[in-house]
Amino acid sequence: MLSRELLVIFLGLIPLSLAGFVGIDYGQDFSKAMVVSPHAPLELVLTPDSKRKEVSGVAFKKTEGDLERLYGSGIDAVRVRYPGNALLHVKQLLGKKFDDDHLLYHEQNPGVLFAETDRGTVAFKVYGDEFPVEEILAMNLDQFVQRSNALLKEKGGSDVVDQIAVGVPHFYGQEQRGMLLDATKLLDGIDAVLIDDGTSVALSYAWKQREFASGQSSHYVIYDMGSGSTRASLFSIEGSHDDSAPIKIEFCGYGFDKTLGGCSFTSALADFLQNRFLEQNPKVRTDELKSSYKSLAKLYQAAEKAKLILSANSEATVSVESLYKDLDFKTSVTRQEFEDILEDSVLQSITPVVDAIEGQFCGGNISIGDVNAIILTGGASRMPVVQRQLANAFGGEKLAKSVNADEASVNGVTMRGLQTLGSFQVKPMDIIERSNFDYSVSLLDDNTPTVLFERGSQYPNVTSLVLPTNSMDNFTLGLYENGHLFTTIDVLAGLPKRKFTEDDCAGSLIFNATFTLSRDRIFDISQIECVCINSGNSSAPGFLDKVLDAVRLNTTEQASKLKEAEAGKSQKITFAHGPGSLARLTGKNILKLKQNIKNLNQKDLERAKLQERKNYLEAVLYNSRNLLSEAGNVVASFSQAKDLKELVSEYLEWLDYDASQATMKDVNERIARITSLSALVKEFARSEHEPLDTDQFESFFSNGTTLLKAVKKQNDSTAEFLKALVPEFEEVGLNATAEYWKLKTPKQHSKSLSHFSKNIYTMQALLAEIESLLESNELEEKPREKLFELKLRYETASENMAELLLALEETQSHHLKELASLYSRRQRVLKKREERRKATFLSSNETSSVDPVETSEFTKTETFSNSESTTSMDETSKSRTSVEHDEL
Ligand SMILES: *[C@@H]1O[C@H](CO)[C@@H](O)[C@H](O)[C@H]1NC(C)=O
Ligand SMILES: *[C@@H]1O[C@H](CO)[C@@H](O)[C@H](O)[C@H]1NC(C)=O
Ligand SMILES: *[C@@H]1O[C@H](CO)[C@@H](O)[C@H](O)[C@H]1NC(C)=O
Ligand SMILES: *[C@@H]1O[C@H](CO)[C@@H](O)[C@H](O)[C@H]1NC(C)=O
Ligand SMILES: *[C@@H]1O[C@H](CO)[C@@H](O)[C@H](O)[C@H]1NC(C)=O
Ligand SMILES: *[C@@H]1O[C@H](CO)[C@@H](O)[C@H](O)[C@H]1NC(C)=O
Ligand SMILES: *[C@@H]1O[C@H](CO)[C@@H](O)[C@H](O)[C@H]1NC(C)=O
Ligand SMILES: *[C@@H]1O[C@H](CO)[C@@H](O)[C@H](O)[C@H]1NC(C)=O
Ligand SMILES: *[C@@H]1O[C@H](CO)[C@@H](O)[C@H](O)[C@H]1NC(C)=O
Repeated sequence: MLSRELLVIFLGLIPLSLAGFVGIDYGQDFSKAMVVSPHAPLELVLTPDSKRKEVSGVAFKKTEGDLERLYGSGIDAVRVRYPGNALLHVKQLLGKKFDDDHLLYHEQNPGVLFAETDRGTVAFKVYGDEFPVEEILAMNLDQFVQRSNALLKEKGGSDVVDQIAVGVPHFYGQEQRGMLLDATKLLDGIDAVLIDDGTSVALSYAWKQREFASGQSSHYVIYDMGSGSTRASLFSIEGSHDDSAPIKIEFCGYGFDKTLGGCSFTSALADFLQNRFLEQNPKVRTDELKSSYKSLAKLYQAAEKAKLILSANSEATVSVESLYKDLDFKTSVTRQEFEDILEDSVLQSITPVVDAIEGQFCGGNISIGDVNAIILTGGASRMPVVQRQLANAFGGEKLAKSVNADEASVNGVTMRGLQTLGSFQVKPMDIIERSNFDYSVSLLDDNTPTVLFERGSQYPNVTSLVLPTNSMDNFTLGLYENGHLFTTIDVLAGLPKRKFTEDDCAGSLIFNATFTLSRDRIFDISQIECVCINSGNSSAPGFLDKVLDAVRLNTTEQASKLKEAEAGKSQKITFAHGPGSLARLTGKNILKLKQNIKNLNQKDLERAKLQERKNYLEAVLYNSRNLLSEAGNVVASFSQAKDLKELVSEYLEWLDYDASQATMKDVNERIARITSLSALVKEFARSEHEPLDTDQFESFFSNGTTLLKAVKKQNDSTAEFLKALVPEFEEVGLNATAEYWKLKTPKQHSKSLSHFSKNIYTMQALLAEIESLLESNELEEKPREKLFELKLRYETASENMAELLLALEETQSHHLKELASLYSRRQRVLKKREERRKATFLSSNETSSVDPVETSEFTKTETFSNSESTTSMDETSKSRTSVEHDEL
């Protein structure tokens, strides 16, 4: 793995936007992800149980009628009990149709049910719902994005992942790439790029190695044997002449086996174990065993385990309880036996390397002797039998096992993704990617396609071609990858709304089509133009023939031939993709599936929140229990403490046995009840040392009475000072009372003031109650609990009164300031008006015969300034702006 230091050098880490990026090595069995953001320079995204890799797939569980999804370690439990609900090895279904042969898939994943989508592709059937392969893939990728976002949040940034790179084998064709890209479209607000896995490991290796002789090429084969396939990629790496120039990495050859890998080995071992079991239990019929999905799933899991053990040991014991019905299975397998089973397939493991050397496409002529090292990566390449095979064929000294097979890929995908998407500035590297396949086009009924991008072409790339037709009718094109027709294009050349006809063009009409091989290596047509050829001299013999000749020639020649002709007006022609070999998701599909995923995510979120509340309730219950035991005797006689004790037991039991169907409301209600009861008990315990005697209640009575008076007085003062203001306001044409009531109560006090009467009434009633209690002389005989309750009520009422008083004071003061400013504004306006009037008067009449009306000298703003607090105001309240109305 690359050292962190090196990574920081690699990434200039100058974010061009505040965003996050995730590189995902999405494997058939396991996946890894790495996140990059300004707050997290290259960080592996760990699973919830802190593992570095995660099982690829999703399992479904039905919880109270809702579908619940499980990832990672959660899948295992489901897989054993309900094999059909654990959707694993999904990657191998990329690009597959429902009608394709899925024998291997079903062998590895017994019990999983398929359904056909309306596009003819595979959907998984779980609890009667159907999930297209794309949707399951999207859920898996989404899981990594969400985990990364959670990680970024922990780091304290506000960055959110908006770009992902997903590693793919180079041999993935249009159908597989298309389907995977469709899956990424189901993620909200995410831009995705596919990264070839050979390139990513080479990149990762080049950075680890760092020193390459300048100007010299070294050659490497990246040998990647994963669980689903085996690939060999030949690379040349050239050191830079000086430090500033980038290292050059060129992709030169490729070989692959689409099925050879860990899964096929496990499958072979599972078959072997199955036969052993049948031998041991002659009464069990083969077809019966084969139709028991649970048995097959158990066998496959046992084979997986044994395979791992045999990588390091010479013998593995297999033991499965109740493999079939109540029959247990116990046996042992030696490494020799295992290797014998694999013999045929292991022989094939050298083929990809041979193919990569023999089929070079970068113009080089690298022999196996020139190859500096064969770099082993991918879990299955660790198997001794595979390594032996490679060593025998190419020499043991060539095998490099030092690359951290597990992380080279995710590192490389991440770096290459960052380079490709360009939202972070990364140190430049000259990487030349070439296509192992060729791409061509033909008119559908013409069986000799024209190659547009040859095998070995660099990509991304764009090219154009004059189509070999000048038909004015609609026609259809076929697009091919390595000679395989993967999609058709209906060209609507015969649309009546076309601007010009054949006759308008002196020369001829040609169709110029532009094709792209994208960064994701998707081959497509991007535009078709109908071009009118205006030869200066259309009567020149053979002109049309010349154009048509040109059309039959290759692109290089076309260009020069057509130069002779003069291109005139042109028009873009509409075209549409035909169904093709594998129907992609339509816009409508995408919207629907996206919504589906969103809904499931929402449910997951709610479920997580509910669980959080349940945990909180549990904590509250244990705290209450502690409180009760700490308070002990003090609260023994308090009936609410008894209630609390009972409720705590009841709710704990409820949580254990009956809460599975609980709603958020159920849980919150319980939290609220416990919390308030608990607070009461706490308060009761706290007031242990208060006397709660006559003196204390007399003090309550007198304090309450004072408070009540203060509130009333404060309230009355409003009317009085308004009365005083009225005449002055009238002078400037304002109604002080009306203006006052128009003003808005400050927000923080509106609640308090809206309960004005109720609070007053409550206090009055309470004071009456205390008074009668004091008069009756029965106070000392009352149970403490009752007195405590009365005390609590008094305290609440008194708090409310204090709040009310504050609200009144601050509101009044606020309103007074407003009135003062209104008053002076009004004054200024009047003064200006008066001046204008005077000026007009003077200018329009030469003589000034009339005395101007004196503006009022009323500037007694000090009326509004603080003079002295009203005497009736509560002593404790801070003196604030108020009106000494007696003075007015
Ligand atoms: C590659 O090299 C081998 C031996 O060095 C030679 O026989 C062969 O013709 C070369 N091929 C090309 C395409 O140069
Ligand atoms: C792009 O494609 C054209 C046509 O195949 C080819 O001539 C050209 O060399 C390609 N460009 C690169 C950079 O490979
Ligand atoms: C070409 O196809 C379009 C769309 O299907 C159709 O409207 C038009 O009539 C066709 N033109 C000819 C000449 O067939
Ligand atoms: C075809 O279209 C491409 C892209 O617009 C353009 O570069 C090229 O010159 C065109 N060729 C002809 C023959 O018109
Ligand atoms: C057009 O071609 C004819 C026949 O080759 C020739 O006589 C005439 O001069 C040409 N006209 C122009 C404008 O080049
Ligand atoms: C195109 O044709 C010319 C002449 O026939 C030939 O030299 C050239 O190699 C051809 N190019 C391609 C890409 O086939
Ligand atoms: C009554 O008010 C006084 C003065 O504000 C205060 O010191 C005292 O604690 C209060 N008594 C009670 C029982 O609230
Ligand atoms: C001023 O306004 C108040 C309240 O809107 C109203 O009751 C009173 O009659 C008004 N006074 C005058 C003089 O208009
Ligand atoms: C000028 O003054 C006379 C009175 O002297 C008055 O009648 C007249 O309206 C004034 N004119 C203007 C334009 O105000």
